[in-house]
Amino acid sequence: MWPAMKNRTPRTFAVKSSGCQMNVYDGERMGELLAAEGLTPVSEGAGADLVVLNTCHIREKAAEKVYSEIGRVLNRGGAAQPLIAVAGCVAQAEGAEIARRAPGVDIVVGPQAYHNLPELVRQAKAGKRVFDTDMPLLSKFGALPARRKQGPSAFLTVQEGCDKFCTYCVVPYTRGAEVSRPFAAILDEAKALIDAGAKEITLLGQNVNAWADGERGLEHLIRALDALPGLARIRYTTSHPNDMTEGLIRAHAEVEKLMPYLHLPVQSGSDRVLKAMNRSHTSESYLRILDRVRAARPDIALSGDFIVGFPGETDAEFEETLRLVEAVNYAQAFSFKYSPRPGTPAAEMDGQVAPEVMDDRLQRLQALLNAQQHAFNQASVGRRCEILLERPGRKPGQLVGKSPWLQSVHLETDASIGDIVEVELVSAGPNSLAGAHLVKEAA
Ligand code: 5AD
Ligand code: SF4
Repeated sequence: MWPAMKNRTPRTFAVKSSGCQMNVYDGERMGELLAAEGLTPVSEGAGADLVVLNTCHIREKAAEKVYSEIGRVLNRGGAAQPLIAVAGCVAQAEGAEIARRAPGVDIVVGPQAYHNLPELVRQAKAGKRVFDTDMPLLSKFGALPARRKQGPSAFLTVQEGCDKFCTYCVVPYTRGAEVSRPFAAILDEAKALIDAGAKEITLLGQNVNAWADGERGLEHLIRALDALPGLARIRYTTSHPNDMTEGLIRAHAEVEKLMPYLHLPVQSGSDRVLKAMNRSHTSESYLRILDRVRAARPDIALSGDFIVGFPGETDAEFEETLRLVEAVNYAQAFSFKYSPRPGTPAAEMDGQVAPEVMDDRLQRLQALLNAQQHAFNQASVGRRCEILLERPGRKPGQLVGKSPWLQSVHLETDASIGDIVEVELVSAGPNSLAGAHLVKEAA
């Protein structure tokens, strides 16, 4: 059988993002660009004429997924094959390999070049295979269209890239050097998001707390957002312990709209491993930062990232990670098996840890983290708090929203998505809670 012809006149598109929240943000902005070109967004399964796979390179599993996804899209059947664009961090890191391994891919576009997507699509329509993984000096943001209507909780990228060069991590290579967007451009985008219906804004950056514009640091940005009418909640992620400034910690005490949640990755509890990771903090200095954050905001929910099985990690060093987790008591956390990434220093290190050892360590760490998360949720039962309603629940009449501590809470209510309602948390599971809508009595 002949392969189906390529559809060179795309009318519909779908963007499928994997990986971090910054990819979700980039995916939304690519969607806005394509819509501004007159293409209609459809769901990924609906046979879109143009499929954008917005990919993640952080671990091998995520990166390998791209090739099976490409195969799935190409073999989905139908009269014509869709145009396929591979975007995101795999495109940046492995553009040439994608071109070689996947001849059905029409466009490869990196995270700093996607503002060129409309032009790349025009060339693909004309039958060319096109590649753009430039990291131009002028940022893409100025070339993107205005924000469109979207849900009550919005992402806003304020900082991109990383100069920290942790020895396991591809981000400095895929996303480039640390760059902060200007204060005024961020405020303009925040206002546009609020006009489009956002009640909550999460400021995004690979090192968001390293954001700076001249003398201004992240806390100035947070305080400026605090002053915007219509915005109810502010969050930020992901932070590095070394950039957790006194001013930012003070903002947690003073800015009411800043939600009591901090994602502060530590990766390991062993100082020897932290040094080999080039983390430039110790487990002790990390714990002291958390003491200061908790003093500023006693109810803060803490979250972190962990890697088990970094090259050379011994049983005793892994135990130190468990001790650190016990000392912190996390509300939520993410943990991963170390994955050697091509081009990173750790991939060349001696003492790569056997897969079954990693499996065992991950299981033990996750059992502890899950127990802490469950305990945190249990301890919330009986609390009263505000919930920002974000989406329909599974049952009719049910809506799901987020607590200030980023817990998912489902409740029966006749309020609407986008409303903030007063709730009593009535029961807790490991991953979500049930709430009862408290109806205020008429005065
Ligand atoms: N292997 C495993 N996990 C990794 N992370 C980053 N690079 C790797 C890697 N090579 C994890 C870190 C980081 C999170 C986003 O992903 O924990 O904080
Ligand atoms: Fe994955 Fe990192 Fe790229 Fe996000 S920035 S998509 S986590 S590789």
